[in-house]
Amino acid sequence: MNTPIKPKHVAIVMDGNGRWAESQGLPRFAGHEAGIAAIEKTIRAAIHHHIPVLTLFAFGIENWKRPDEEVNFLMHLFLTQLDLQTAHFIENNIRLRIIGDRIHIDPEHGKKIEEVELATAKNTGLVLVIAFNYSGRWDILQATKQLCQQVYSAQLHPKDITDRHLQTEMALSDLPEPDLLIRTSGEQRISNFMLWQLAYTEFYFTEIAWPDFDQSEFEKALQAFASRQRRYGLIGKQTAMSV
Ligand code: IPE
Ligand code: MG
Repeated sequence: MNTPIKPKHVAIVMDGNGRWAESQGLPRFAGHEAGIAAIEKTIRAAIHHHIPVLTLFAFGIENWKRPDEEVNFLMHLFLTQLDLQTAHFIENNIRLRIIGDRIHIDPEHGKKIEEVELATAKNTGLVLVIAFNYSGRWDILQATKQLCQQVYSAQLHPKDITDRHLQTEMALSDLPEPDLLIRTSGEQRISNFMLWQLAYTEFYFTEIAWPDFDQSEFEKALQAFASRQRRYGLIGKQTAMSV
C-alpha cells in the first residue's frame, strides 16, 4: 500500500522538557509544566487535521528511577491535569484511554483513570491515548501472561499460537497501529515505547524540545509522513501496484 496522505494514528514521545527548562536556568519541573501547553496545542492540531488516534507517552516504567522530587511532581501533574481536562475532553468529544500497568500505581491514580475513561467512553471524536506507567516490554509481557493463562486453562494449544493471538492481547489491539511516531528534542530512540505496535511505523525526529512543539511542528511531521513510501517488506513496484 502507498502511504495514505494522513496517518490514522500518531504516537508521540514527548521528550526534552527537562533540558528545555535547564537551558533557561529554570528547574526541570518548569519544563514539565510548559509541556502541558504543548499537549493542548497538539490535541487541537490532531483534531484540526482529523487524526483519529493520538497517543502520548507521558510516563514510562523506567521514569520511576528519577529523583523522588521529580517523580512526585510528575504524579501530581498527571492527576491534576486529568481532573482539569475532563470537562475539556467531554466538550470536545475526546475519548480518553490510558495504557500501562495499573497494578503498581497509586490507587488514587487508578480511580481517577477509571473515572475519566468512563466519563469520555461514549465520545466519538479523537481517541486520546495516554501511556502512563507504560513500557513496550511490559506490554509484551502482560500479553504473554494472558496467552499463558489460555494455554493453562486448555483454551489454546501452544502450537496454535500465531502473532494474531499475541496482537489481540496487546494494548490498543482494537485500534489501528501507529502510522507515525514523532520524538522531540533530538533523541533518536524508542526508549521502550510501543515495541510491538511500532513494527511498521514511520519515524519522525525533530530537534524541537517538547515545550516548543505546536501545530506548525505537528504539520511538519505530517508533511514528512506524506512523502514516505511504506513498503511493509515488499519492493517499491509492488506497493505502488497495490493501491
Ligand atoms: C519528557 O521530558 C517528559 C517525561 C519523560 C516525563 P524529559 O523529562 O525526559 O526531559 P529531558 O530529556 O531530561 O530533557
Ligand atoms: Mg528525556
